[in-house]
Amino acid sequence: MDIKSIEKVVSLSKRRGFIFQSSEIYGGLASTWDYGPLGVEMKNNIKNLWWQDIVTSRRNVVGMDAAILMHPEVWKASGHVQNFHDLKVDCKNCKARYRVDHIDLSKPCVRCGKTDWTEPRQFNLMLKTSLGATADSDEVTYLRPETAQGIFVNFNNVVNTARQKLPFGIAQLGKAFRNEITTGNFLFRTREFEQMEMEFFIYAEDAKEQLEYWSQERLNWYKKLGVREDKLRLRPHDKNELAHYSTACYDIEYEFPFGWSELEGIADRGTYDLDQHNKFAKKKQIYFDQVNNQHFVPTVIEVSAGVDRAFLTCLVDAYREEEVNGEQRVVLKLSPKVAPITVAVFPLVKKDELPEIAEKIFTEIQTEYSAFFDIGGSIGKRYRRQDEAGTPFGITVDHQTLEDNTVTLRDRDTMEQVRIPADKTLSELKKRLQNA
Ligand code: GAP
Repeated sequence: MDIKSIEKVVSLSKRRGFIFQSSEIYGGLASTWDYGPLGVEMKNNIKNLWWQDIVTSRRNVVGMDAAILMHPEVWKASGHVQNFHDLKVDCKNCKARYRVDHIDLSKPCVRCGKTDWTEPRQFNLMLKTSLGATADSDEVTYLRPETAQGIFVNFNNVVNTARQKLPFGIAQLGKAFRNEITTGNFLFRTREFEQMEMEFFIYAEDAKEQLEYWSQERLNWYKKLGVREDKLRLRPHDKNELAHYSTACYDIEYEFPFGWSELEGIADRGTYDLDQHNKFAKKKQIYFDQVNNQHFVPTVIEVSAGVDRAFLTCLVDAYREEEVNGEQRVVLKLSPKVAPITVAVFPLVKKDELPEIAEKIFTEIQTEYSAFFDIGGSIGKRYRRQDEAGTPFGITVDHQTLEDNTVTLRDRDTMEQVRIPADKTLSELKKRLQNA
């Protein structure tokens, strides 16, 4: 896939209702996107698969859902007010703004071709907002730049109520906001995005082992989403890349058309965050270890993924252009776990009772899988639409159904069509989806 293909993915996303530009009718708002009918289903599938993998399937991880707005002191304690900066430069000629680590200052501006840079300046990435009904009482706070702090400030609340003992994790999924200087590459870097984060609290001596364990677990999760293995890698951070809170970190990266880029960080945050809140807040966040009969601040291994980046990865990874009988077919080879629609049901024509039979099959399938009923247009066009939506299976009711009570089951990837008994449609789908 070349660099231009990201535009093809953007175009398909709009054409099929995965992603729309935000506020499009007003000319759009830079780097903000809306998820359409197919997009929201696929995004929910990804979030559910994460929750299932991290929370529901484990005994020692619990979930929570904190408010986006937090006390402004949180961000002083966390170090974000002081340290959450990017170094930026502006081109004096065309006013384009760049992150210093994204460009070579000895080379001309890629937009206007002139080499005339401002001095590099620090730029805080947090989005400010103010609370309060009157100007006098306004209090400045921030839209959270990461969901993690909502977990740290609730550490004791969770320990006291969820009856967890070390090692255990607290997971959260939700919106985060950053006033990114450079945005672009579609959903990859936006100002409003969603994170899936889990803070795993451990004994300090287990940090190295737990960092390795979670890095592998998380890499495997992307493989389970159906992402091609040779497009994924785990990269340890150099010392100079580490965030202000972290002592060791791995990135999971995907090879996008614009190069290898980060999907997720797995970091050893040490005791940094709880220590900081213990300095700034009135109430202490401390763990009582019944085994050794002592109080201490546990070490944290964090897994922090972006929902939108996982979504973009699935889309880009699944996008294929194939030639079929001299015509081009665009198909999203999405895993059935991720695909927004699992099965599409088509009556071949709008008459001869085919719609009624198809409707009955559709209603049965819908009790277990996400299904779509499509009655309009030629069957070839309907198949192509579902190929672009990434729908793994199609069921077609035709005139032969009236004779022998069979229907056609079409496989998206092979385009193979087989006849199966109409009353066995759901069980046949189940069989195929079990191994998917
Ligand atoms: N709590 C740690 C943390 O926030 P991060 O590496 O800054 O670490 C974690 O962010 C993940 O959040 C990233 O790996 C990425 O998937 C996602 N993310 C961060 N900034 C983003 C942005 N501007 N747009 C989309 N996703 C973003």
